[in-house]
Amino acid sequence: MAHSKFPTILYTIFHALTFLNICLGADTLFPNQTLENGRTLISANQIFEVGFFTPVFSGNTFLGIWYKSTPDVVVWVANRKNPINDSQEIALGIAPNGTLIITRNGTVIWYKVSSKIASNPVLRLLDTGNLVVVDDAIDIWQSFDSPSDTRLPGMQMVNNPNTGDFKYLTSWRNSIDPSPGDFTYRIENKGLPELVIFRGAVKRFRTGPWNGLEFSGSSVSPNPGYKLEAVFDKDLMLSVYEAYYSSTITRLTLQQSGLLQRYSMNEMKDKWNVAYTLPRDSCDNYGQCGPYGVCSIDKEPICECLKGFEPKAQQDWDWSSGCSRIRPLNCGSGDAFLEVIGVKYPDMVEYWLNTSMSLKECHDECLRNCSCVAYANTYITNGGTGCLMWFGELIDIREVHGADSKQIVYVRLPVSELQSNNNLDKTKKKKHDKAGKLIVISTITGVLISCLICLGIRALRLRLKKRAGKQKNEDFELPSFKMAAIAAATNNFSSENLIGEGGFGPVYGGKLSAEEEIAVKRLSSSSRQGLEEFKNEVILIAKLQHRNLVRLLGCCIEGDERLLIYEYMQNRSLDYFVFDENRKKLLTWPKRFDIIMGISKGLLYLHHDSRLKVIHRDLKTGNILLDGNLNPKISDFGLARIFGGDQTTARTKRVIGTYGYMAPEYAFDGKFSVKSDIFSIGVILLEIVSGKKNRGFSHCNHHHSLLGHAWLLWKENKALELMDECLKDTYNETQVKRCIHVALLCIQKFPENRPVMSSVVFMLGHEEAVLCEPGEPGFFMERSYSCNAENHASISNGSKKDSMTITDLEPR
Ligand SMILES: *[C@@H]1O[C@H](CO)[C@@H](O)[C@H](O)[C@H]1NC(C)=O
Ligand SMILES: *[C@@H]1O[C@H](CO)[C@@H](O)[C@H](O)[C@H]1NC(C)=O
Ligand SMILES: *[C@@H]1O[C@H](CO)[C@@H](O)[C@H](O)[C@H]1NC(C)=O
Ligand SMILES: *[C@@H]1O[C@H](CO)[C@@H](O)[C@H](O)[C@H]1NC(C)=O
Ligand SMILES: *[C@@H]1O[C@H](CO)[C@@H](O)[C@H](O)[C@H]1NC(C)=O
Ligand SMILES: *[C@@H]1O[C@H](CO)[C@@H](O)[C@H](O)[C@H]1NC(C)=O
Repeated sequence: MAHSKFPTILYTIFHALTFLNICLGADTLFPNQTLENGRTLISANQIFEVGFFTPVFSGNTFLGIWYKSTPDVVVWVANRKNPINDSQEIALGIAPNGTLIITRNGTVIWYKVSSKIASNPVLRLLDTGNLVVVDDAIDIWQSFDSPSDTRLPGMQMVNNPNTGDFKYLTSWRNSIDPSPGDFTYRIENKGLPELVIFRGAVKRFRTGPWNGLEFSGSSVSPNPGYKLEAVFDKDLMLSVYEAYYSSTITRLTLQQSGLLQRYSMNEMKDKWNVAYTLPRDSCDNYGQCGPYGVCSIDKEPICECLKGFEPKAQQDWDWSSGCSRIRPLNCGSGDAFLEVIGVKYPDMVEYWLNTSMSLKECHDECLRNCSCVAYANTYITNGGTGCLMWFGELIDIREVHGADSKQIVYVRLPVSELQSNNNLDKTKKKKHDKAGKLIVISTITGVLISCLICLGIRALRLRLKKRAGKQKNEDFELPSFKMAAIAAATNNFSSENLIGEGGFGPVYGGKLSAEEEIAVKRLSSSSRQGLEEFKNEVILIAKLQHRNLVRLLGCCIEGDERLLIYEYMQNRSLDYFVFDENRKKLLTWPKRFDIIMGISKGLLYLHHDSRLKVIHRDLKTGNILLDGNLNPKISDFGLARIFGGDQTTARTKRVIGTYGYMAPEYAFDGKFSVKSDIFSIGVILLEIVSGKKNRGFSHCNHHHSLLGHAWLLWKENKALELMDECLKDTYNETQVKRCIHVALLCIQKFPENRPVMSSVVFMLGHEEAVLCEPGEPGFFMERSYSCNAENHASISNGSKKDSMTITDLEPR
């Protein structure tokens, strides 16, 4: 009947409405009827609808089930592997013997055989979302037996090796292609049963084994609306499903990205809310911290070695290689066990299991066998029963909040290691030294200065040396330039040589010689720092060296003048390119991605890898400079320290920064941390991808900022629409989406939800990393847009004069 020339879901829906008079109330199809493309069956209470649909931009048509109120949410697809490329004359029918058929012009092009030959079959769509073939009141076929990417209440996931019955979720290939994608979510019955998200054959996430009550890695609080029921045969988990407990409409969907999301429908029944997402956080990524690493999401870094182990890699963010033993095992009586409480059990890669042994027997057995590295009770029920022993490496351990404290893994260590009580502290401290730890020292004058432990000691040493009359810092000498030379190079600081004006003073370009170009930052006189402190700070900044940081060549201090001399960057700054209609075309996608990676690595260095832990506090596209090859280099880092004074504490009265890039907690409360820099880099990422400024962004349909706009598009699965139009010839869809995804994680409202820089670099660089779903961004509120907003301004709770001195103008 309906010959779809423009076969889209919408078109299908339109037709469904057209045929409303025929369809209304029709939830059943008889063998003497057919359901043409454009017509649908609707379940008795108008919840589900079944019919043909053709995703937008796709030439293929599928038979599917969706929610009547939200037709774009398709929960089941019949012919995922057999798309129909020509939707003319197709119809769904049911043969007299009970076989489900799709025909074209009367010829069967697809069919699904029932479990038995029927005599009186009907096809019916139930309010559960189950499409069934009923023969004399007996179900002989149901769509619930072949799950697609969504588990509806009542639908079972099955793993029964005895009968060869396996049912699991498989993601769509992409948003317009329901054919089976890379990800599956299934029961795994290896060792103790658990649920696992796989990408191909590779584990991405596991719930942790069943502990007799629940999955040991889960801390999702039970919801009365849907309770997981599991069916066991001895120790095999045959199936899991959710029973109906309330009228809330809910579903569990395995997204194309590999995220598993629980949705529930609002009361108006027109919108879906995400109740939770798995993996929940980085610690849920399989093996995040490598062998013998423990992941704790509240710590920074999130990875830590088990007691008795030390990190293998040098760099903080590279945990994939995990940890290795500090001292080898002794075997036999030289070893003992460390109790690790409240964790998700390590993965059962090599294991041995006996569910009737006691913990004592388990201990003895493990101790006796030199290759046993850990053991635990299999179930926590009945006071703890059974024995699970691990061989090989322990992987994918995480701290679980609210985990049952009976969930204890006993890890084998040499007795000597176990007795050295401060051992864990030692490893911890080592980590912290590397990461640099912010501590707060109260001085006599009551001024709070926070500094890094390592810096603290260094600075003290320096000061002592100075007192002893030494003029130079022995291991580092910062070249000192003569004022006369700089004045000559910059044409006496002429306005023609002015190339920018940052928050800390004007920047001049100049030539020391025919070849040697420099940039000179003339610091405004608001720094009330003493000369010694100033020098110390500058030396510290000069030691920060990374290919993605602008290099400080030297300084010049004469009278009141304080100048910093930097390498010259031919191509000015990122904003000069990315927001300019013509110049932006020079930045193809591969170039932009390079720039994104470069900035991220530079900031990673400032946050984690340098000896200081530098919080930039004024990251923006204007502070990302570009060299002759358009390589990005972060500038103005460390200056907040010089100008900071009492502002380097974790809360500041005077905010240095730029509207549009400042995290909410910094803008409103003056609270800053690495996480406020993360927010800024999220904004920069979105600006690079979209070619639009956050500040001053406007959209005809709503009053959200660029951040809100990006999030809304993301939630509607239309993230790609954010992309700068001029990238259409060079973009890489996965990379663009990933950048937007990471950016959205960075700009989340609450600092604790934002990732740290090491994760940002990892997520950007690893296509296979599963990312969490971003929450609401900071500043997610509609605002009245006024065009006269000054583009950049610093805000200040101090005097007007203060705000002037740190006013951050846009480079010309
Ligand atoms: C189709 O079959 C059903 C059940 O056998 C019957 O009730 C109905 O009248 C039939 N409709 C047509 C149009 O023949
Ligand atoms: C449509 O599918 C049929 C059968 O799979 C195939 O032979 C034909 O080439 C396809 N047509 C197009 C336009 O892809
Ligand atoms: C059922 O009927 C269909 C359509 O007539 C036919 O193709 C199929 O072979 C039949 N199945 C069985 C098991 O007889
Ligand atoms: C459909 O079948 C009829 C008769 O069997 C035939 O005349 C017609 O050309 C067919 N249409 C198409 C599109 O194949
Ligand atoms: C499991 O342990 C029990 C009790 O120690 C023992 O009787 C039984 O033989 C063991 N089973 C296996 C498979 O080792
Ligand atoms: C230790 O246990 C493993 C796994 O059960 C077994 O293969 C190995 O033979 C045992 N070794 C000894 C010395 O008992």
